[in-house]
Amino acid sequence: MILDCDPGHDDALAIALALARPELHVLGITTVAGNAGLENTTRNALRVLTLLGRTDVPVAAGAGRPLVRPIRVASHVHGVSGLDGADLPEAAVGPVAEGAVDLLARLVRESPDPVTLVPTGPLTNIALFARTHPELLPRIAEISIMGGAIGEGNLTASAEFNIWADPEAAAIVLDCGRPVALVPLEVTHAALFRNADIPRLEALGTQTGRVFADLLRFFAIFHRERYGWDGSPIHDAVAVARLVVPGLVTEVPYRVDVETESGLTRGRTVVDFHGLRGLPPNVVVGTAIDRGRFIDLLVEAIGRFA
Ligand code: RIB
Ligand code: CA
Repeated sequence: MILDCDPGHDDALAIALALARPELHVLGITTVAGNAGLENTTRNALRVLTLLGRTDVPVAAGAGRPLVRPIRVASHVHGVSGLDGADLPEAAVGPVAEGAVDLLARLVRESPDPVTLVPTGPLTNIALFARTHPELLPRIAEISIMGGAIGEGNLTASAEFNIWADPEAAAIVLDCGRPVALVPLEVTHAALFRNADIPRLEALGTQTGRVFADLLRFFAIFHRERYGWDGSPIHDAVAVARLVVPGLVTEVPYRVDVETESGLTRGRTVVDFHGLRGLPPNVVVGTAIDRGRFIDLLVEAIGRFA
């Protein structure tokens, strides 16, 4: 698999889970502007890999802004750095010289097996990859996306941040012809890492456990202030976890389209529950999650690092 991300507190947990699981082989990580600017999301990915002792994983920086729209970061959620709240080590390595699209193409071309892409930020890099290398799309097993919302959004009333940030890219990816899974807010808002669970990380007695405990305490601030929740939704790690535990996320095939024209509903993922458009499903949409199992997966994964 290849993780395309914008670390981001929940992206950091997605990285840790992906690297911890024996069922998954992380070929590389690509970064995109989203929660923070590209320089910060790239630095954050490298700092997380340094923390986890996995600087062997290549990281390539991708798009510094969406295809069409101006950039909008989510510092109100993740802080100015994009990963505020913990004492992360400085990155021990830099990104590879290739850009994200080139690394995606090389890793897919070189892989003996079909590759799963796991985008957990705006879909700019994945859209550029699909348009630049259509010949490689048949070698993509699945695209497991954290993004979208069946009902209420989180950036606007209508739209979830990853899709809202680059709706044109999202529309390209959802219709790229490869199997696409969408993990929307309805699932991830049920995937709360509660503050009462945080001591489980501190009890690990490791630097990684302490750092993620601190990251989660910071990530909980926004969610307490906006929603009154006692914890934070680990959005991005669900897009990884669903690959590890079949059935962890309840999923239903639907036709899904992205609003790219409207100002009011820009980035809305329109789920056609009854096939009213007369089009076949193009996405399997998450509708529910086994939260307890998910949190156990995360704690167990973090426990695999020093
Ligand atoms: O809306 C949640 C998504 O936006 C998550 O991927 C989070 O990391 C941010 O990128
Ligand atoms: Ca993200």
